[in-house]
Amino acid sequence: MKHLDLSVNVDHVATLRNARGGTHPCPVEASRIAIEAGADGITVHLREDRRHIKDRDLERIRAEIAAPMNFEMAATEEMVAFAERIRPPYCCLVPEKRAELTTEGGLDVLRAGPFLREAVARLRAADVRVSIFIEADAAQIEAAAAIGALAIELHTGTYAEGPVADRPRQLARLQAGVAAARRAGLLCHAGHGLSYDTVSDIARMEEVTEISIGHFLISQSVFEGLPVVVRRFKALIAAARQA
Ligand code: PXP
Repeated sequence: MKHLDLSVNVDHVATLRNARGGTHPCPVEASRIAIEAGADGITVHLREDRRHIKDRDLERIRAEIAAPMNFEMAATEEMVAFAERIRPPYCCLVPEKRAELTTEGGLDVLRAGPFLREAVARLRAADVRVSIFIEADAAQIEAAAAIGALAIELHTGTYAEGPVADRPRQLARLQAGVAAARRAGLLCHAGHGLSYDTVSDIARMEEVTEISIGHFLISQSVFEGLPVVVRRFKALIAAARQA
């Protein structure tokens, strides 16, 4: 069975900090605590409007945290240039709309302009391993492989946040996405909307090698503490993997 990494998204530590405009709570400190508690990596999304993570957070996490960083970003000139400068080990390309509350769906690789291919090529030239956040759709996944991505991150939001009765159908759709990634020779990551209730179904998919969790994990930490929540997620993932 392949190892399954948990990457903790610390964006919403920055959301809380920004609510008062000061320095507390600090996403760099949260990253350190999450890694000490057993997380395998840290994810940060630097948005065009800098609504949570700021440039300096990203630079500091890259410099100070000795665990793989996954830099989530839109495929824009500004963000590609940023990634070329700080050279994170992983980038995840996501669609980004100013008005959205969070990333709303996978990137439409089939209809993307030529800059997406250029972004992937430039990131690869900077030794960044590129994944693309994507719907579980075979044509989209094949298109991601064709433009040179190394991995896809399957969008689990529709499964995790939709009606419970619809979950078997959504899981089957995700399974088909995992199979399409395997056929296309891509690594398969997954994330969005996952919680204690939904992580196990995804962790049981043995081709999935990384799960990225943010909002639930950080908000649950208000009640339980960040190390406890990270350890609970790691235990759920380990149990699902063994089952
Ligand atoms: N993966 C991607 C590509 C995302 O945009 C997000 C949200 O920032 C996540 C995973 C994590 O989603 P959540 O915060 O709902 O756990």
